[in-house]
Amino acid sequence: MSLDLATENPTRSPELPPATDPTGDPTAVPATGPAADPATGPARPPLSPSTLRTVVRELAERPDQWIHLVRLSTEERWYQRLVAEDDHEVWLISWLPGQSTGFHDHGGSRGAFTVALGELEELSLGGPDQGLLIRRVPAGTARAFGPEYVHDVRNTASGPAVTLHAYSPPLSSMAHYDLRAGGLVRTSEEGPEQW
Ligand SMILES: [Fe+2]
Repeated sequence: MSLDLATENPTRSPELPPATDPTGDPTAVPATGPAADPATGPARPPLSPSTLRTVVRELAERPDQWIHLVRLSTEERWYQRLVAEDDHEVWLISWLPGQSTGFHDHGGSRGAFTVALGELEELSLGGPDQGLLIRRVPAGTARAFGPEYVHDVRNTASGPAVTLHAYSPPLSSMAHYDLRAGGLVRTSEEGPEQW
């Protein structure tokens, strides 16, 4: 299969990514119910990380659903939302070599992602001393995470990568962090209007 190269659509990417909390099973994160909206009634509870992982894995196995949409942007990661439901959303993202998210959270959303093509690298803090963990995330690998998860996802490979990401509830904000000697320091926050 071939990827359609295009640079005319360099949209700002929400972020991407995810991973398993090294300190525990992310699927064990309890799903707390959202507040009821008086206009529409109770909102559906968020999907669990394990369910989101299933969502991205199943979609990755059906490239006919998304491969024709993939673009590559030299400006920054390219992305497009494939699914927008009340309780979750799914994004398609492409990564050229060197493109990365920087450390970020997901505004309290649970999430999962899988690498459909290529390979990524994920950085997070964990372990007994909250040291820096670096994971290879090759094609076919899925990562899932709870609402507090912070990570940095990057393409350090020599070729492009294509990934699928699911979030529940849909992303409402994302904070960015710098990794400094004392740990992660929150530096900025963005909302849906910026993606
Ligand atoms: Fe992420």
